[in-house]
Amino acid sequence: MLTKELITELKNNGNGDLGYLVDKQQDNQSILFILENLGYIPKNFDGVFLFALLSHHYHKIRLLAAKNIAKINKVEYLEKLFQVFENEQDTSVKREIVSAIGRLRKVENKSYLFKILQDSDPKIVCQAIRGLLVFEKHQDVKEQLKPLINHTNEMVRTVIYKEFFAEEDEKDKEKSSLAHHETYDFLKNTVVNGDVLEVLKYVPNESVHLTFTSPPYYNARDYSIYPSYQAYLEFLEQVFKETHRITKEGRFLIVNTSPIIIPRVSRSHSSKRYPIPFDLHPYLVKNGWEFIDDIIWQKPDYSVKNRIGGFMQHRKPLMYKPNAVTEYLMVYRKETSKLIDWNIRSYDKKTTKESIVPEGYERTNVWKIDPCFDKIHSAVFPVELCKRVIQYYSFKNDLVFDPFGGSGTVGKTAKALGRKFFLTEKDVNLLKRISEKNSYDIIVSSLETFKFASKNGNNIS
Ligand SMILES: C[S@@+](CC[C@H](N)C(=O)[O-])C[C@H]1O[C@@H](n2cnc3c(N)ncnc32)[C@H](O)[C@@H]1O
Repeated sequence: MLTKELITELKNNGNGDLGYLVDKQQDNQSILFILENLGYIPKNFDGVFLFALLSHHYHKIRLLAAKNIAKINKVEYLEKLFQVFENEQDTSVKREIVSAIGRLRKVENKSYLFKILQDSDPKIVCQAIRGLLVFEKHQDVKEQLKPLINHTNEMVRTVIYKEFFAEEDEKDKEKSSLAHHETYDFLKNTVVNGDVLEVLKYVPNESVHLTFTSPPYYNARDYSIYPSYQAYLEFLEQVFKETHRITKEGRFLIVNTSPIIIPRVSRSHSSKRYPIPFDLHPYLVKNGWEFIDDIIWQKPDYSVKNRIGGFMQHRKPLMYKPNAVTEYLMVYRKETSKLIDWNIRSYDKKTTKESIVPEGYERTNVWKIDPCFDKIHSAVFPVELCKRVIQYYSFKNDLVFDPFGGSGTVGKTAKALGRKFFLTEKDVNLLKRISEKNSYDIIVSSLETFKFASKNGNNIS
């Protein structure tokens, strides 16, 4: 019977016995079992029978054979591996062979990996780059890799940028004098009454840790009117471009929007639907926001407008209009070559411990939360929604920004969670409401006061 113990015993006796065992097997599953359980390969192990398996008709067997060959560190295998690579059709097996070549970590690899850089599968090219980066200081390797900054594939370009260009760019950047966890006092727990684009002119680079916002819903609600959908998207582009500038390296922006409907002009016209999250997305990516996640905010059926009524009567095809119970929370990160670990490491142990997300956190990207109804404002964030976003995407004492502050739910929740907030809102009535109704200490500034504070108050703590 085939057991792990038998495989280990035969492996340690020498590969002759193991090759014989493989030959004896009638079915693919048994060969796979042997290959999966080979484990550590002893020195001087001869990989002959593994090479034979590289021409097996079943691709999984070829793949595992390549994986095991990678464990045998023999430069003599190079030429053979390359030949197999050239004749292999399955891209996952090809990748494994390139990985096997790379793992040899021998200078002889270079010429083979240079040829593999021409492959049409970007994952294979990345694997070859990985193998070559072992020799990144070698002039010939630099000469081959650096031009790939213009490669057609974005993954390849990102790897090359990080390895060869990011450091230089970092040196050229005008750096903020603040440590990553710090921000300016004059921004903390402040609400500015004004047009967001005006206000942001007075906010220094890299001062905000998280932005969570719900922009106006084009012309669906009457607090803002735009001349056209294009003008609306371009306005939001400007807002999120500025938000990008004031956001700290590698930090997050979460935008809550949903497709909207503009009612028909008369019965002889149709209403029009605008897919805001999807149309806004390219503008965000273009301006340096890297897409991270899409979270669906699901509301109960009873809380949304009934659109299905007409269809329910006659059930005629093409008349189907489901009730829209969802909104999107699109999650973006300010593009950087640094990993999230880098952001996390910039906090002290105490802050990190105090910011640990409590039990009961949401495990999926569908968040079922009841909406919030408000007489004065038609699009108020539920506190639960803000709570989750702030807890999952910021640390204690961070500065949380909402460019479209509305009734101030982001501010109120940020404060309750031990964060600081910075809001902009153009509607004075809402600002009044924030300060009157909420029993927390906020500073509502006019644009003039804020300008003054910005000029004089770049103090930090
Ligand atoms: C969808 S609501 C935000 C509601 C908010 N999330 C809340 O919980 O109350 C959008 C808000 O953006 C504000 N707004 C629209 N255009 C603005 C601009 N150019 N500058 C600042 N605020 C603006 C509107 O007055 C409105 O209150």
